[in-house]
Amino acid sequence: MADKYDVIVIGAGPGGYVAAIRCAQLGMKTACVEKRETLGGTCLNVGCIPSKALLSASEKYEEAGHHFKGMGIEVGKLGLDLKTMMGFKDEVVEANTKGIEFLFKKNKIDHLKGAGEIIEAGKVKVGDKTYEADSIIIATGSDVISLPGIEIDEKKIVSSTGALELSEVPKSMVVIGGGVIGLEMGTVWRRLGTKVTVVEFLDNILPGMDEEIRKEALKIFKKQGIDFKLSSKVTKAVTTSQNVALQVEPAAGGDTESIVADIVLMAVGRKPYTDGLGLDKIGVDLDERGRIKTDEFFETSVEGIYAIGDAIIGPMLAHKAEDEGVILAELLDGQTGHIDYNMVPGVVYTWPEISAVGKTEEQLKEDGVKYNAGKFPFMANGRARAMGMTEGFVKILADAETDKVLGVHMIGPNVGELISEAVTVMEFDGSAEDIARTCHAHPTLTEVTKEAALAVDKRPIHI
Ligand code: NAI
Repeated sequence: MADKYDVIVIGAGPGGYVAAIRCAQLGMKTACVEKRETLGGTCLNVGCIPSKALLSASEKYEEAGHHFKGMGIEVGKLGLDLKTMMGFKDEVVEANTKGIEFLFKKNKIDHLKGAGEIIEAGKVKVGDKTYEADSIIIATGSDVISLPGIEIDEKKIVSSTGALELSEVPKSMVVIGGGVIGLEMGTVWRRLGTKVTVVEFLDNILPGMDEEIRKEALKIFKKQGIDFKLSSKVTKAVTTSQNVALQVEPAAGGDTESIVADIVLMAVGRKPYTDGLGLDKIGVDLDERGRIKTDEFFETSVEGIYAIGDAIIGPMLAHKAEDEGVILAELLDGQTGHIDYNMVPGVVYTWPEISAVGKTEEQLKEDGVKYNAGKFPFMANGRARAMGMTEGFVKILADAETDKVLGVHMIGPNVGELISEAVTVMEFDGSAEDIARTCHAHPTLTEVTKEAALAVDKRPIHI
């Protein structure tokens, strides 16, 4: 007799483990299959969490090296102990993954160790054992994409995983792809002393974000010392024991040039990961990009099999997967729920940080929506000045007729946190005037958001 569950979740990343916890909270007998030794998926083990640990540590290093003196702090000769920094990162990861283990025990969720294969609706095989469940949730996430003919060896040509594990600071690094991973990891190593060159296919970095933010980000990262080769593509990579020689060509074609680097970071995007699940055998449909097709209730083309997170449509973000996990658990419990992808914020954890929610100016123009834009710089904010972090701005886009907030775009200190106010206002269908009339503590960075809201009506106070 096979073990029987109400729900089996496959994958213990932010989508899967959160779905499992919410199912268990709602009284469902729940198991979660995970093939990695530790829980937490890409995000906790080799993604968001370790990268934020290195971002944080490298930011402090840079501050100590470049900003402390101006604030009257003498630290003597600055040194880098990369092994200890990596140890700090590993401890952060361990604490987080152990935390999920604790939550599984607390919620009486069985952790089935191994790779899960769906035999048919209601049956999941892990190792040589088959488990039964009324509902199966696929939350297997995504995997890195490489370029044709270029193999990621995680030594010289690395993905984000390898970039988090380098044992010494490379003298030079070429980052292929000026997206989120390329910029986050590129800035970490740049701060630690690497000469970083970003090769980006398009004519600007961070595709999909608001154009004005992209321009400002490019300007700031250039000033920080990162080199950019825009409108360029890598066509070949030759690895030797010393380094990697890349053949780089204009995106539109033309003369190639060779760039040599100690390390190459491949960051051209990720693809849904569904290998080994047996989806083709049981008839779960995928779309043209390999994403599992679902209806608005996250059900796949096979009844009783659901999918969430990076493996389905929508932004590949941990918090999007988490929200889907909670909603799906509640739907399985007979409740209602849905997700509005327009309200999913995006954050790039570079310094300065970049964040956004809702529509960009370009999207509003394309949709023919009339809007007013209000913008306010951190330079004119007392707290930002006191912190010595005055780069960037907040931009609010509001409907010209109703003043409803349609999009908010930020670049500046701590804007990964500041965006949350914008998301809340938008979830409540709030207006720019609502933000402007809300009391914001002084002196805080949040006043920049308030001033940007006032600027929508052309009445900012401090500029
Ligand atoms: P991405 O989609 O953000 O960026 C990929 C970049 O590579 C794009 O700028 C694209 O134009 C460029 N590109 C594509 N083909 C190229 C080529 N042949 N040559 C040069 N450039 C090329 O993908 P990324 O950075 O790999 O991240 C993967 C996923 O992980 C994204 O969906 C991202 O949202 C997510 N992620 C999110 C984080 C966050 O929220 N802070 C952190 C890390 C990853």
